Amino acid sequence: MNKHSTTPVITIDGPTASGKGTVAALVAAHLGWQILDSGALYRLTALACLRQGVDTNEIDAVAQVARQLDVNFDQGRCFLGAEDVTDALRAEKIGLLASQVAAYPAVRDALLARQRDFQQGAGLVADGRDMGTVVFPDAPLKIFLVADVQSRAQRRYNQLIEKGVSANLLDLLADLQARDLRDTSRAVAPLKAAPDAYIIDSTTLSINDTVDQVLQYWAKKQN
Ligand code: CDP
Repeated sequence: MNKHSTTPVITIDGPTASGKGTVAALVAAHLGWQILDSGALYRLTALACLRQGVDTNEIDAVAQVARQLDVNFDQGRCFLGAEDVTDALRAEKIGLLASQVAAYPAVRDALLARQRDFQQGAGLVADGRDMGTVVFPDAPLKIFLVADVQSRAQRRYNQLIEKGVSANLLDLLADLQARDLRDTSRAVAPLKAAPDAYIIDSTTLSINDTVDQVLQYWAKKQN
């Protein structure tokens, strides 16, 4: 935690396609707070490696790319240098590469200060895998959002089809399972709930119900 900041943080961690990005954005909008999409930084590192021809098996070279990322977030869009890479970042291939480079401790170190710098202003909603355990361990409210893998694959499938991108449900399910396994079993900052996190299972909850639940937990913390 940035020791000098008194900005409150709500962390929302969880596995891929659990809806945490959408929930985080809506909670932040409701409270008028900033948002940190930490997964975007891992995706940006993966994309920058591809663009620069850096082999993602070369840990030191990947960490160097992470340290030197020229990234800007502006009104929901994400820029690498001057290029708007918001859509390119969402490709499944980039998600899988992101989970590979995210397992490297040197890459996580390289991105740590950058993430803590987001703790400014009225408040921050931070979404990722290790927001409550590593990046903002003193956050006053921590959420761990889960949903069963079948419904997460179905959600991701629907998102892609809505965007006009062709998708195969079984392939998506296999990708999600591979990513879950890698994210939960890695040695550094594995995906797991902080001991003081509230666990919300959104398998049968709508996005709005999930957002309401988070806001209720936050309101309770204020009393
Ligand atoms: O949107 P989705 O949940 O599929 O992925 P994401 O949040 O954009 O994160 C992409 C990958 O980055 C994940 O599979 C994780 O391996 C990694 N990541 C991480 O290790 N730590 C974070 N705080 C956020 C993401």
